Amino acid sequence: MSNNTVTTLPVSISIEIAHSYHFVTKVFESGNQLLANLYKPWKRCLAIVDYAIYDLYGAQIQEYFKSNTISATIRRAYVPEDRKTIDTALEICRWITEFDLVRREPVLLVGGGLVTDVAGFACAIYRRSTPYIRIPTTLIGLIDASVSNRVAVNWHGLKNRLGAYHEPVHTIIDPKFLRTLPESEIRNGIAEILKITSCTHRETLELLERHGETLIETHFGQLGGGHVEDISGVADKVIRQAIQCVLDVEIPNSREKDLNRVMYFGHTWSPTLELAVTPPLLHGHAVAIDICYSATLARSLGRISSFTYTRLLGIFSRLGLALDHPMFTLDLMRKATALTIATRDGLLRATVPTKDLGTYEILPLVDDRALQEAWEMHKKEVVAYPRKGLGLEMTIDVRRVHDGTMTDLVEGEPTW
Ligand SMILES: NC(=O)c1ccc[n+]([C@@H]2O[C@H](COP(=O)([O-])OP(=O)(O)OC[C@H]3O[C@@H](n4cnc5c(N)ncnc54)[C@H](O)[C@@H]3O)[C@@H](O)[C@H]2O)c1
Repeated sequence: MSNNTVTTLPVSISIEIAHSYHFVTKVFESGNQLLANLYKPWKRCLAIVDYAIYDLYGAQIQEYFKSNTISATIRRAYVPEDRKTIDTALEICRWITEFDLVRREPVLLVGGGLVTDVAGFACAIYRRSTPYIRIPTTLIGLIDASVSNRVAVNWHGLKNRLGAYHEPVHTIIDPKFLRTLPESEIRNGIAEILKITSCTHRETLELLERHGETLIETHFGQLGGGHVEDISGVADKVIRQAIQCVLDVEIPNSREKDLNRVMYFGHTWSPTLELAVTPPLLHGHAVAIDICYSATLARSLGRISSFTYTRLLGIFSRLGLALDHPMFTLDLMRKATALTIATRDGLLRATVPTKDLGTYEILPLVDDRALQEAWEMHKKEVVAYPRKGLGLEMTIDVRRVHDGTMTDLVEGEPTW
């Protein structure tokens, strides 16, 4: 064989990944056997629980495991956005090691998108893949972060730059947690529901248009009815449909082989903007600004009518979401455009709404002039809206600050 002969051995692997979403009410109520049955084979559970959730539900969680003769080791995690780091993920790996986790034993993650993203990432890298079960407790978690198979940490100021695709073995959806979620976080989560529904499901978008304020006020029906009859029924419909919409577009493309993703809607400029603001924007407000700018782009390119444009921005504004931020400068928009093009294989792939909403188009590239014209139009339009287009409680300083310690170890009583 001569030196320059190349021989190729092609390899192709397809792997079946199966996991489930369970809809339940009061997952930690003693009679509810769903979670207990998942941990009974192990007789123990390592639970990584958001610090606020531990304060509110910790006693109930401990009692739940105790009454089911499962020994719980609960790690209380404080993971604000500025601790969505590789160091936090490595700290979580240390907890897993200290627990002596058996190879196929699932870690339990209970919290919002921060805990499930970072601890999910720790599970992805620990022994190359460690199973986990997640229970989202925020609206963003219920309808987006915990529907996704993507787990990540921020790195060098770049949002979600280190990450993995790592499906949980089970996701348990329990909207009862929304009862204690602050109103600012409900609003924050609604942005992600508007994202998916304004492009793919007009009926659900119209439910939000009609009942959005009441859904926020009543924490998606968890605090009673407000003035709307059967607001819990509306909330249930919105949550289930939003999850279904995300699954419909994401599951066939779960390894992002196709970079033309509708889920990029609201995520073309927002990853750069979110962290550029000090203190950072809440994720949902950053996404809302991106969606509204994308709508202005669609309007300036003639993809949507003036009526549809005003209607869409009106929904965001009425629900207290941001349409704009002073840090969304022309320079930042250009920088974000360049970063996104690098991440999306040389194309912008900006999702924009079309027609009467509920449909979308992905624009492969938009030239700088068109982006600038849309940006100028956007700045002129948004000042006419309440709060000059700013959102209510739009930055992360609305969140309760923990005492600074990263975690506490709360040992469950061995009960067998
Ligand atoms: N993986 C994905 O595809 C995906 C999708 C969307 C968002 N995300 C990520 O999610 C993160 C944001 O997540 P988030 O908005 O859920 O924030 P979060 O996890 O920080 O939770 C928000 C706040 O609510 C508190 N909290 C959580 N549940 C509560 C409850 N039931 N009652 C009272 N307080 C509660 C938390 O302690 C925190 O202070 C961002 O980093 C974003 O990038 C990931």
